[in-house]
Amino acid sequence: MYNEIDIDKIDTAAEPPTEEPARQYYFMARCRQWVQEFEKKNGRVPTACVVNMGCQMNARDSEKLAGILGQIGFLETGDEHADFVLYNTCTVRENANLRVYGRLGYLNTLKKKNPDMLIALCGCMMQEPRVVEKIRKSYRFVDIMFGTHNIFKLAELLWQRIEMRKMTVDIWDDTSLIVEELPTERKYPFKSGVNIMFGCNNFCSYCIVPYVRGRERSRKPEDIIREIERLVASGVVEVMLLGQNVNSYGKNLETPVTFAWLLRQVEAVEGLKRIRFMTSHPKDLSDELIEVMRDSKKICGHLHLPVQSGSSRILKAMNRRYTKEQYLQLVDKIRAALPDISLTTDIIVGFPGETEEDFAETLDVVRKVGFDSAFTFIYSKRTGTPAAAMEDQVEEAVVKERFDRLLAEVQAISARVCARDLHKTKEVLVECADDHMEGYVTGRLSNNILVHFPGDLSLVGKIVPVYLEEAKGFYYMGRMEET
Ligand code: SAH
Ligand code: SF4
Ligand code: F3S
Repeated sequence: MYNEIDIDKIDTAAEPPTEEPARQYYFMARCRQWVQEFEKKNGRVPTACVVNMGCQMNARDSEKLAGILGQIGFLETGDEHADFVLYNTCTVRENANLRVYGRLGYLNTLKKKNPDMLIALCGCMMQEPRVVEKIRKSYRFVDIMFGTHNIFKLAELLWQRIEMRKMTVDIWDDTSLIVEELPTERKYPFKSGVNIMFGCNNFCSYCIVPYVRGRERSRKPEDIIREIERLVASGVVEVMLLGQNVNSYGKNLETPVTFAWLLRQVEAVEGLKRIRFMTSHPKDLSDELIEVMRDSKKICGHLHLPVQSGSSRILKAMNRRYTKEQYLQLVDKIRAALPDISLTTDIIVGFPGETEEDFAETLDVVRKVGFDSAFTFIYSKRTGTPAAAMEDQVEEAVVKERFDRLLAEVQAISARVCARDLHKTKEVLVECADDHMEGYVTGRLSNNILVHFPGDLSLVGKIVPVYLEEAKGFYYMGRMEET
């Protein structure tokens, strides 16, 4: 197993291997020598800070990047006053980009104080040629840029930068490659994300993800199961299966399988206690999946089912390929099989051409479904997507006003719906010490709602029964029951 490879034994005087991941372990070994020289010169280990700016998929990538840096010998830190700072960027909405430019200015001031500091950018934003051009021209202090398709190459690119002493840029347009068996450094010991697929083929008309993440590629089921078995062996009790559209998992494999089939295999992994997944596209949610969820003891009672809009007209323009009625029917079908399920969603306000009537349809869906929570977004124009070229972009003030109305509605419903388990005893996976109250811990119910209750850190990673005493809207206060 590569995770246990001793990279100090790699012959760095030899030519680098051509096959992956051996090639990357070779470059990790070379970078490690550089780290050792740094240590000799400065009397301390160089520090590295990986900042994740995107979704759960990016967060998982960041764990892989941190894993590579850990192997090289960097000391991980959450502080950007580090010797190596890596931003894993997101570009789903314009404000994500603006944040990166803002923070780069700040990094430049840090680099002036520490001229040996290395700054690297990777992730979705780097897949946009105009972004890379802008950084090449106006942010010349950036040392390394790479994209979403070659994150596995971090060690090689770092080595190139160290040797060449000039900006290293390596962005791939797309890939069919999935490099397995690289080191990862997990944020939590007891839960982990697991990629089951990469990319997206849906081309919702507002969305940039298919352009920056490439075409849909599923990992082989045996690789996924092996990864989960190893995670469980190292203490993980909960996995989150990740993909932009998990419901189409397996369609492009040599031997096609369904997502529901994969879930059955994951369920069979001994020692695993909880299974989550995201994101489900409503158009691909099968009866088979509902059945598997109903029969499962491990799949959590939560489904994230982005609706985006309640207006069938807007949904068509968004290229979502379902209508308001189909979405509501799907929700009914899910609830008939899984009455206690908690449903969450994503909603975009102000898509081009959205009228007050369209918006009223969105409010209607929100009321009819009664979501546990909803991520609400103001439509952001992404260059290169079909929606960016549409006429009738909605005026900012109108969008803002609708957004506020939606948020108020979502929050009121959420407070009511989330209280459904009040005065019941439910299982909670304890995650951490409570941020605000001494002597309390915080954990999650199967349906993803947070619970705070008196307890100590020895409970972290354990699943315990908790009586839900008080509903506070988005969370509960509870009391642990005797086991
Ligand atoms: N694959 C997931 C979503 C990934 S992006 C899915 O299909 O559900 C996460 C969310 O960001 C989307 O659900 C959408 O609500 C929002 N989003 C994507 N592009 C956007 C844009 N251009 N403007 C505003 N919100 C957007
Ligand atoms: Fe974007 Fe649609 Fe793909 Fe989700 S399914 S990532 S919203 S294109
Ligand atoms: Fe952002 Fe990329 Fe995820 S654009 S939402 S980090 S796939």
